[in-house]
Amino acid sequence: MRSIVTIMAAAKELWPLYLTIILGAVATSATALLTPFVIARATDLVVEIAEGRGGSLTGLMWLAVALLVIALANSALTNVSGYFGDQMAVRLRAILSANYYRKLLRLPQRYYDNELTGTIISRLNRSITSITDFLQTFSNGFFPTVVTLLAVLVITAFYSPWLTLLLIVIYPTFVWLTAKTSRRWQVWEKQKNDHYDISGGRFSEVIGQMRVVKSFVTERGELDSFQGHYRDAVDLTKQQSRFWHTMDMWRRGALDLVFFGIYAIIFFQTATGQYTVGTMVLLIQLTTMARMPVTSMSYWVDMTQRAVAGSQEYFKVMAEVDEPNNPLESAPSAVVQWRDDDPVVRFDGVDFGYGDDGGELVLRDIDLDIRRGERIAFVGESGGGKTTLVNLIMKLYPATSGSVSVYGQSVAEVPTATLRRQVGVVFQDASLFSGTIRENMAYGQEGVTDEDLTVAARRANAMGFIAHLPNGFDTEIGERGIKLSGGQKQRLSVARALLKDAPILILDEATSSLDTKSERAVQAGLEELMEGRTTLIIAHRLSTISTVDRIVTLRDGRIDEIGTPAELATTGGIYAELLALQGSTRKADKARLLRYDITQ
Ligand SMILES: Nc1ncnc2c1ncn2[C@@H]1O[C@H](COP(=O)(O)OP(=O)(O)OP(=O)(O)O)[C@@H](O)[C@H]1O
Ligand SMILES: [Mg+2]
Repeated sequence: MRSIVTIMAAAKELWPLYLTIILGAVATSATALLTPFVIARATDLVVEIAEGRGGSLTGLMWLAVALLVIALANSALTNVSGYFGDQMAVRLRAILSANYYRKLLRLPQRYYDNELTGTIISRLNRSITSITDFLQTFSNGFFPTVVTLLAVLVITAFYSPWLTLLLIVIYPTFVWLTAKTSRRWQVWEKQKNDHYDISGGRFSEVIGQMRVVKSFVTERGELDSFQGHYRDAVDLTKQQSRFWHTMDMWRRGALDLVFFGIYAIIFFQTATGQYTVGTMVLLIQLTTMARMPVTSMSYWVDMTQRAVAGSQEYFKVMAEVDEPNNPLESAPSAVVQWRDDDPVVRFDGVDFGYGDDGGELVLRDIDLDIRRGERIAFVGESGGGKTTLVNLIMKLYPATSGSVSVYGQSVAEVPTATLRRQVGVVFQDASLFSGTIRENMAYGQEGVTDEDLTVAARRANAMGFIAHLPNGFDTEIGERGIKLSGGQKQRLSVARALLKDAPILILDEATSSLDTKSERAVQAGLEELMEGRTTLIIAHRLSTISTVDRIVTLRDGRIDEIGTPAELATTGGIYAELLALQGSTRKADKARLLRYDITQ
């Protein structure tokens, strides 16, 4: 419960709404409570008239009118409070969702390596829906009921302390019993949610990669596993629900017993002349009003449990540790004293592993200085750590030990956003978004003109295919650019990096999907751009890297050699070996080249 209160407190701007809803609840309850009194008075009046002890029919009719007015006022107040309840729920939803999204945007890459997109989304939906649904129902129904209940207790106390005592005893007992049941209920609920999360995560992966599913004909298998999770959830619900309803029977049985006592007292007191018939009618109505909330208590408790579980999930994500040094609200370019001399990038005794506290190391003992304006290429086996190495420059992951610095500043210390603005990157997979070519190319940049787009597209050798598309730069490319060919996506991704116009450029297999001719064209476009920029190239064609300033070869996660292409061609190391193998038609040689992902 505390977590729900914390959530309400977090949405401070909603306090006027909370207050309005509380006032509305009090007013609604007040009108609801008037009715039994009017009916009681009417009953006494009817008895008087029937027994010929006076009493006026007109007075009786006025009481009927009063009932109408009270009912109308009650309807109006219920709906006005309902309106504010809806407002509160929808605004709370907006606030919570934005907070959740803000948090997700600040979490480190590592978090996303371990979570499925669909799972994150299904968790977000469930936690926020359960919290807002609860608060909405709470304000629109539960709250007025509680106020009514308290008033009923006070009024009945006026007539009979015994009745109040019985009523007072039943509620805490009922809530206590329910809470006890709830603990076991929660365990089942968590297991069910795990099933929903896993199947939801898989669901969105499958939908996102439908081509693979179709080509491997795994539709049946995917559906079976999805249904399997839902079947398990149904089975769990059977146990959960059976338990809940059995307990509810007992609870209600206890309640019925207490109400038996209450009615017995009321009937006895009236028969012995201590209450008038009107008072009896009043008390029966009031106690019935008090009974109603108990009947719906299971529903409330059920809603509350979901909300508590939801808010716990919400806070679990909120408690995750943010990416260091990367507040979302930082100034666009915090002032950093970039040292404008060599080396531009420095690796100093860097070890790195993806596991917690490193785990198995992917990179070991990396010492490397990259000079200003230099073109440097990385060669190593597939899975050898090339992409990892460049990830460290962007601080997508922190080095396990040692330090990486850019322009003389340790990446661990500079504001992350500022650091990342210094680096233009073409990822190994093109990583585009749905939307138009224009939106993709200008991603993260402001004031990009058509002229800028054309220049960048030309340099990336993308203008040819863009010009042929029916809507040019405004063509929609589908989710992750699914409507484009692999090479087109890559060229778009190169153009996007070019528009970023950053002093350090990372090309991770930026041209791997292109044929030799297109690659040359992109290369030519990049030549000019690489002028004055520091460029890190990971490429799968030796011809692409034959013109770089230096080549770094990686072996077993360590730097093996560093030198100019001409130097390394003669040392007998990895590069020389690959050069020698190139052009060979022997199967073994080809296999060796393949391990290095080298295309001829
Ligand atoms: N996010 C990750 N979490 C855990 N391990 C990872 C992650 N990314 C990569 N690895 C592992 O780190 C090692 C190095 O991967 P990396 O992507 O750096 O290789 P690479 O040299 O770029 O290979 P390729 O030429 O195939 O692109 C691999 O063994 C890989 O399995
Ligand atoms: Mg790679």
